[in-house]
Order: sequence, then C-alpha cells, then structure tokens
Amino acid sequence: MDRFYVTTPIYYVNGAPHLGHAYTAVLADALARHHRQLGERVRFVTGTDEHGLKVQRAAEAEGLAPKALADKNAGRFRELFARLGLSNDRFIRTTDADHLATVEAMVHRLIAAGDVYLGGYEGWYAAADEAFYDEDEVVDGRAIASGASVEWVREESFFFRLSRYQEPLLAWYAQEPAVIMPETRRNEVRRFVEGGLKDLSISRTTFSWGVPWPGDPRHVLYVWVDALTNYFTAAGGFADPADPAEAAWWPADLHIIGKDILRFHAVYWPAFLMSADLALPRRILTHGWWTAGGEKQSKSKGNVVDVDLLLDRYQVDALRYFMFRDKPVAGDGSFSETRLLARSNAELADNLGNLVNRSLKMLERYRGGIVPEVVAGDDPVDRALRDALVATAATVRRQMADCDLMTAVTAFIEQCSALNLYVNDTQPWSLAKRGEDRRLDAVLYHAVEGLRHLAILGYAFLPETSQAILTALGEPAGTVPAWTDLHWGGLPAGRQTSAPPVLFPKLDAEALGLSDLT
Ligand code: MSP
Repeated sequence: MDRFYVTTPIYYVNGAPHLGHAYTAVLADALARHHRQLGERVRFVTGTDEHGLKVQRAAEAEGLAPKALADKNAGRFRELFARLGLSNDRFIRTTDADHLATVEAMVHRLIAAGDVYLGGYEGWYAAADEAFYDEDEVVDGRAIASGASVEWVREESFFFRLSRYQEPLLAWYAQEPAVIMPETRRNEVRRFVEGGLKDLSISRTTFSWGVPWPGDPRHVLYVWVDALTNYFTAAGGFADPADPAEAAWWPADLHIIGKDILRFHAVYWPAFLMSADLALPRRILTHGWWTAGGEKQSKSKGNVVDVDLLLDRYQVDALRYFMFRDKPVAGDGSFSETRLLARSNAELADNLGNLVNRSLKMLERYRGGIVPEVVAGDDPVDRALRDALVATAATVRRQMADCDLMTAVTAFIEQCSALNLYVNDTQPWSLAKRGEDRRLDAVLYHAVEGLRHLAILGYAFLPETSQAILTALGEPAGTVPAWTDLHWGGLPAGRQTSAPPVLFPKLDAEALGLSDLT
C-alpha cells in the first residue's frame, strides 16, 4: 500500500475536550506518523461534529447561538490537538462549506438509489448519543448501552431503507473479515445485523440546528448522516473536477473509533456508502475507554481528566507514551495519574532520558563529541545489540500494522533498557581508564548509533523526543525519520554531536502537590 488515509471520529462541540477525545486523536497521530515513516502518502484528518440536538441544547444552556458555541469549542479542540503535537492534514468542521455541499450531494445519491421515503417516526431518542433506541434497548428512561436518558419522539421523518442492506452488509463482513477490528467487535456487529435491520429515521423536524433537508427545509438531516459523511468530504468529496487528486483519497484506509460508536461506523456508514455507490472503508479500529471509578469518562458524568492540566505537569511525549503503554487499544483502562508519574520517571526519565544523557556525555568526554570510526569488530555483545535492534524494528513494524500500540511501545522501551544494559556491560569508563581505544570506539559507536535507531523507532509515539535526539546526533531536523534509515552504520564517523537535551525532568509527586493521586 502506498497511501494511508486515517481518520478520527469528529468530536461533539457541546463541551471541552477531555482525555477520551485526546486518546482517539493520539492513536491516529501515531499511526499516521508511522505510515509517513514507511514512505507512504498519508492523509490524517480529525475535526468537529457541530450539528444536532445535543449541540443545540448545550448552546441554549450557555445562552449562545449554536454556531458561536461550535466556534468556541472547535477552537478548544484545535488548541489541544496542537499541544498534543497532532500532525493532522486537515481539521474538518461539519459547518465547513465544502462539507455542506458534499452532504447535500450524498443525500441526493441516497434518494436517487430509491433508498429514501417519507414516513412517521415514533420511538425513543437519546440526545446525548444522538441515537434512536428500540423498546428493548431502554430501561427506566435510559439507553442500556450508554446510560443516556431517552425521550419519546413522534414526528414526520425521512427514512433510509437500512433494511435493504442487511444481506449486503453480512456479505461484506464475511468477505472482508479483517475490516472490523478487533474480532470481538466484528462478531458483535454481525450479530446485531443478523438480528434484522429496521429502516432508519434520517431527518428531524422538532429542532433546527442541522443541515436542511434538500428540498424540504422543515426537516434537518439526522446528525449522524452529516457526521459520517465528513470522512468522504475530507477525502475530496464527489470528484471535484478542479482538483481530482483530492478525491483519490477515498476510501479511507483506517477509521479509528471508540467502541460506543461502532454501530454507526460498521453498519450505518457502509450502508450509506453502498447506497451512494461508493467504496467501503478498508479497516475500522475500535478502541476501549479510559474509565474513572469503573465508568467511561464523559462530560455528562463529570468524571473526566483535564488534558490541559496534565500537559501543564508532564511532557507531551510522556502523556502520549502513557496512553499507548498503559492500556491495550481494544480494552478499557482506568486512568491513574500516579501511574503516569511513575512511568514518566522510571521509563522515560530514568531509562530513555538517562540513556541519551550518558551516551552523549561519554562521547563528549572521551571523543570530544565526535562519532568515532565504525569498527568492524565482531564482539558478541555488539552483535547481540545489533540483532536486538533488528528484531525490535520488526516487532514495532508488525505491531503497528496490527494497530497494537501497546506491544509496539513496550518493545521500544525494552530496547531502551537493552541499550542501557549494553552500556553497563561494556563499561566505556573502564575502557577509557585502561586506554583500550579501539574497543572504546566500538562501544561508543554502538551506543550512539543505537540512539539513532531508537529515535527512528520511537518517532510515532514520542515525536518531540525523537527529534531532540536526532538533532543532538546532528541528523537533519524537522523531517520525518524514514524507516529505511534503520540500517546499521547510518551515523557517519566524524560527525560532531551536541550536548544531550534534557528530555524528561524527574517529577516529584509531593512537589507537584499530588500526594492524593489515584
Ligand atoms: N460526534 C460523534 C462521532 C462522529 S464520527 C463521524 C462522537 N463524538 S464524541 O465527542 O462523543 O466522541 C468522540 C470519540 O471520543 C469517540 O471515539 C469516543 O469513543 C471517544 N471517547 C469519548 N470518551 C472516551 C473515553 N472515556 N475513553 C476513550 N475514548 C472515548 O461520538
């Protein structure tokens, strides 16, 4: 594959971003960076979902026009994403003009396919999820799946013939078993579709904050049709003759989503695409939640972690690293700042940071910071280190292809430990004392060339750190370190390196006033 189009869900602008939102975005960023390293053409899109009842009500509560609330909160997402170092190519907003045009064209396609009819909807609706629920999905006024409160709605509505797509969807799941990841989620979706699909209400008449229904402005389009279509808009939409290259981004290679929005992405979205005669996404990766007190962190539960606060306390790379390292992608994990602090200190400051510091300092002390001549010596310790680096690269590559970031980042940090052990075992300070110059050259070379490898391997997870290491090694700054540079001997002899950067200051829980951490 020479191209990679990856998306995050677009975020509701009813409130400020929190850790759960940051997580989806950072996962997508790491994968986008990894694929850029592989030399692929990459498009990475994130953005905001701005229409619908939920946003309209939030705006009313704040005494703002919906668009004013959307502007304010879209700005907060943008700022946070900049702080998190996201490398997205576009930040799409569903109020963007090109998106509105694409959505209208999409609705016309569904109509032209004979998949839309006017009817009446009566049933439960949860504004918090922007979702319709069946009787058996509701208990005591709440949706069982999400806990969101539901209200009874009864109104004229346009319907999409979702029922027509039961068989085509089942055929697609069977034909492309790897599309929905992980497998448990695929099975969940398949069982849901096997249970039968009812036609879907895709317009509302009782509020106004949405895309007007083409030709019938009493209706606004159901927000999920609008929202899902963002992926297609951001791929260039319906071939713009002025810019045909843009449209070449469809279909998406990877949609990254939380498990709460699986049905929308794995059932509704492919059905809309089939109806519109568009290609289907190649993969849908479903991740689990960051929880607090055993529950999904969410604004409505008031149990969210403020990412800005964390970023005031920790390096951005420490937070990114932690989110990959501490929770498997597919599973849930309870967020603990104590563990974030502990990992930042032990794994990043003491392990990686110390390795960078001591290696570059020794090179400075014993060789004036100049990379020594590559010595072809065949010491078994050296060979073992080189072999381990090759094996780690293969592991990271494989696990990133499987979107298993936890295993990938763990392999990376274990490789940092292994390089630290190499330095402990070879004892450059003793070699210097004994005047064993050839051996010292070999060891110093292995240490700093090992650092170069680590900077390349860690780029997707720890982009700032990776750049700082490469800069200290005198490598070109600001460019994406290519995967093909992972070959032994890339660091040229005679290269002047600079003083080690301070990567991860050691943090003290008490000094931070964090003695009561969870
Ligand atoms: N607007 C819809 C998505 C439309 S995509 C066409 C939406 N927005 S959201 O803001 O509620 O959620 C956006 C993403 O954040 C979802 O993938 C959701 O799973 C994720 N998270 C929100 N809270 C989360 C946690 N506590 N933990 C991990 N991710 C969670 O849904």
